[in-house]
Amino acid sequence: LEKGIYNVLVSDNMSEDGLKPILESATVNVVRENIYETSLPLDEVDALLIRSATTVTSELLDQMPNLRIIGRAGVGVDNVDLEAATSHGVVVINAPDGNTISTAEHTFAMLASLVRNIPQANQSMQEGRWDRKKYQGAELYGKTLGIIGFGRIGAEIAQRARAFRMNVLAFDPFLTQSRAEKNHVTAVTLDEILAQSDMLTVHTPLTKETKGLLNEKTLKQTKPGVFILNCARGGIIDEEALYHAVKSGHVRGAAIDVFEEEPAKNHPLSSLPEVITTPHIAASTSEAQQNVAESVSHEVLGYLNGKPAPHA
Ligand code: MLT
Repeated sequence: LEKGIYNVLVSDNMSEDGLKPILESATVNVVRENIYETSLPLDEVDALLIRSATTVTSELLDQMPNLRIIGRAGVGVDNVDLEAATSHGVVVINAPDGNTISTAEHTFAMLASLVRNIPQANQSMQEGRWDRKKYQGAELYGKTLGIIGFGRIGAEIAQRARAFRMNVLAFDPFLTQSRAEKNHVTAVTLDEILAQSDMLTVHTPLTKETKGLLNEKTLKQTKPGVFILNCARGGIIDEEALYHAVKSGHVRGAAIDVFEEEPAKNHPLSSLPEVITTPHIAASTSEAQQNVAESVSHEVLGYLNGKPAPHA
């Protein structure tokens, strides 16, 4: 390789348009192949671009001595062993803004679909039925939406919920009174949000603190007939506990986009008629994918060429 030419491996599927900054750069050789199958020797990779399908372990990093930066085209970096990256001297950056709107819109679409049984009713029509009684739903108007995790996505959801005239509660240990007021939500404790919400949606990262936040015990604290949503990260809600809570009728319905293990084909939750599931597509819009790919491409390119990485 010529001096000054960096090898960038794009391991997951990413927007062509968004990758333009690196694809058009003269200092970079871009290889768009899965890391487990690539023809590029791993010890020659200078930068790695990923979404959620690639898991970066310490063992993988051992094979990449030249690696300087990992760009995560999305928000969550739970698929990267951050401690191992640090000890290998590898910087990890994400794209924290690019898919906020898409994720909030998907969550809201899931919420509206859930309370009106739209996917189930559609399926029944496709199967030749006309079941008007079976699909009686509930209004969002006047209901209380509990948002657990009030970051960018949580705040966008709150805005949409207000447009539907819902009351919005938020639980987040980092939520200040002034941010709550600015966003017209009521800041409450975990116990309060569990007890008072008609619909509960989680928007935290997956960390030691949030893993299993909704579990057998906390699900029991929710209102009978509650609706539960997870378009954030698999594992924040204990899947087995949710399954049983739906089966028992305590949870009236759930909308789930993310799973403890992905791909999640033939997942037990997908078999329940009260649960609607999508295959981790909240951020899958052309707009969000262009945004996140562009953001990481710019930042990775800058870093390889000696600039600081703002989203490290
Ligand atoms: C994210 O963390 O940004 C999302 O899960 C989106 C993705 O993996 O594409």
